[in-house]
Amino acid sequence: MATLVIVGAQWGDEAKGKIVDVLSADALYVVRYSGGNNAGHTVIVGEDTFKFHLLPAGILYPQVTAVLGGGMAICPKSLLEELDRTIAKRPEIGNLVVSPAAHVVFPYHRLLDQLEEEARGLNKIGTTSRGIGPCYTDKVQRNGIRIGEMVEPIVFERRLREVLAVKNQLLSMFGHPALDFDELHTEFQAYADRIRPYVRNIETDIQNAVRKGERVMFEGAQGTFLDLDHGTYPYVTSSHPVSAGACLGTGIGPRDINSVLGVCKAYTTRVGSGPFLSELTNEIGNQIREQGQEFGTTTGRPRRCGWLDLVALRHSSRVNSLSGLVLTRIDVLSGVGDLQVATAYKKDGNVLDHWPSCVHEWEGVEPVYETLPGWSGDIRGARKFEDLPQTAQNYVRFVEKFTETPAAILSIGPDRAETMILRPDLIWG
Ligand code: GDP
Ligand code: IMO
Ligand code: MG
Repeated sequence: MATLVIVGAQWGDEAKGKIVDVLSADALYVVRYSGGNNAGHTVIVGEDTFKFHLLPAGILYPQVTAVLGGGMAICPKSLLEELDRTIAKRPEIGNLVVSPAAHVVFPYHRLLDQLEEEARGLNKIGTTSRGIGPCYTDKVQRNGIRIGEMVEPIVFERRLREVLAVKNQLLSMFGHPALDFDELHTEFQAYADRIRPYVRNIETDIQNAVRKGERVMFEGAQGTFLDLDHGTYPYVTSSHPVSAGACLGTGIGPRDINSVLGVCKAYTTRVGSGPFLSELTNEIGNQIREQGQEFGTTTGRPRRCGWLDLVALRHSSRVNSLSGLVLTRIDVLSGVGDLQVATAYKKDGNVLDHWPSCVHEWEGVEPVYETLPGWSGDIRGARKFEDLPQTAQNYVRFVEKFTETPAAILSIGPDRAETMILRPDLIWG
């Protein structure tokens, strides 16, 4: 078997898109397994920048079958716009397949996302307002409409009528006018006509490819601490970004996964509300945001920036059963000065020996830092580990040792070429 899961090891935006793109050169399948267009995965190829929200980042390679897996929440309009945008730049893309099991995001999901956030007031989650939470809520409540239903005209008309009646009642509770069935139905029939050719049952093909030893990559979205179960609930997304989500969202079993690479920045960022112990609200935080251009790919919001939290990263390594780390954006820390890394959490003077599970448990918890010497200068030209300044090499070794996880890949710039593969043996298992 040659299967690989690429998972966000922190709070998202770790540069999963870049890494998936780099590794897709050798892949036959690249499968997104969770989330929707709340994700924003950037791929830079020469002069061209691609921002993928729904399409797997591996789609730029013609040999790749790029799959939108059953665990996803798909906004058809945004999928079609993204497809058109991508083909306009790269006519020869991979073969796109959309799983019929994926759920459809409707305008009422987006409306409810916004209305619910407003109702939360100061406790808002800071969602991307793409309707993702309400779409997954419908899935769990068994009110959702799947892509496979959307492309069957008779089924779709019946399902939309049923569901919209309930949604309109909900909207009226928020004082919002009802949505018109005919308008919505006509709009989505047009999307369905364009998406239908891409929809097919793909689980068995993926399972067979896995058995044949073909290279199959599973592309995570969001990050471990945004996972519905393993994140800082309720400041999370509504799906399963962790590596186990690759099984849930695509129909492979846990023993079908060979390798799991956890993508993490050399520091930490988070968009939206929720605990972030190593956050820097000072000049250094601003410096990292400016040097790293830390503004959201999907919403353009400034990302909260802070030191690398190794306690969180070690926990992430265990939750995801990481084979290796992909440490990205090492270049951004150049010139920041001495670097701090969180190596323990303390509360009331005592070191915590467990990972806090409820959000109130984070209150009063403080990080304990170790200081490591930094580096300066432009390191984007480095191509071998030994090319890096000694202090940067030591930083990487410290991370590996603390998290008990080897560094498989380093990234020192957004371009494909700005990548060092240290452990090829950890990539496809
Ligand atoms: P994703 O959601 O995990 O795919 O990450 P995003 O695309 O939202 O954000 C990562 C950003 O970092 C993008 O703008 C990438 O082009 C950029 N990037 C990727 N790797 C590196 C790197 O090693 N150094 C720098 N400076 N930027 C990088
Ligand atoms: P990628 O795949 C960073 C965050 C939102 C918010 C929370 C819930 O690009 O790493 P949602 O709209 O999902 O209900 O918002 O999750 N969030 C992300 N943060 N990167 C992402 O995706 C994210 N997707 C959702 O900011 O805090
Ligand atoms: Mg992103």
